[in-house]
Amino acid sequence: MKIPFIITNFKNYPSAIGKNAELLTEIHKSVAQKTNKNLAVAVSQMDIAYIAKKYGNDIPIFAQHVDNAEMGASTGKIVPEYLKSIGVTGTLLNHSEHRFHNFNDLGLAIKSAKKAGLITVVCCENVEEGCSIMTLFNPDFIAVEPPELIGGKISVSTARPSLISESVLQIGKGKVLVGAGIKTGEDVRIAIEKGAIGILLASGVTTAENPAEVLENLVRSISPF
Ligand code: G3P
Repeated sequence: MKIPFIITNFKNYPSAIGKNAELLTEIHKSVAQKTNKNLAVAVSQMDIAYIAKKYGNDIPIFAQHVDNAEMGASTGKIVPEYLKSIGVTGTLLNHSEHRFHNFNDLGLAIKSAKKAGLITVVCCENVEEGCSIMTLFNPDFIAVEPPELIGGKISVSTARPSLISESVLQIGKGKVLVGAGIKTGEDVRIAIEKGAIGILLASGVTTAENPAEVLENLVRSISPF
């Protein structure tokens, strides 16, 4: 996956599930093509099969979570290998709204996702947690998201710019995405300037009146990839 990139997490926002998931993915596809920037979407587990089938070749599709599970006797689990087989590119893991109960389970899920060939973007709430996850499990990327800023009006870029540079310093160059409250091109510009190679965001796009306009503004400040 080319970096820097922006992943929009659709969560289960009514404006981003079902038929709306299709419309919003279509918008991401168009903006990515029009601007030649790297966008990806993390869609609800309920929609992912359909979206991956329709758009898997056009734009990277991410799951919002996977389990440490294999094909076969794994009732109710989200199986990385199955996702990969239907055209899914990667997965978020350990999102603040869907955290693993312990590091052992998280590590097993990362291993399972990597074995299936999914790109792993593991969320953490602070630099220390991000460092531990990177050291122990070596995922592809770590997304640092202060929970108190998620879904809020003030972005991590505005409220905690030093957290971004500190994360890059401690976790590793080329490894860190940031997110929480990001809504504007200026938020993205600051994050990239501080060393992040990607952005994870949700409400700024999913609840926007004009998501295409917001996306174009978000990517505008990123120099050509
Ligand atoms: O996964 C993205 C996220 O938790 C940030 O959400 O709404 O603050 O962009 P939001």
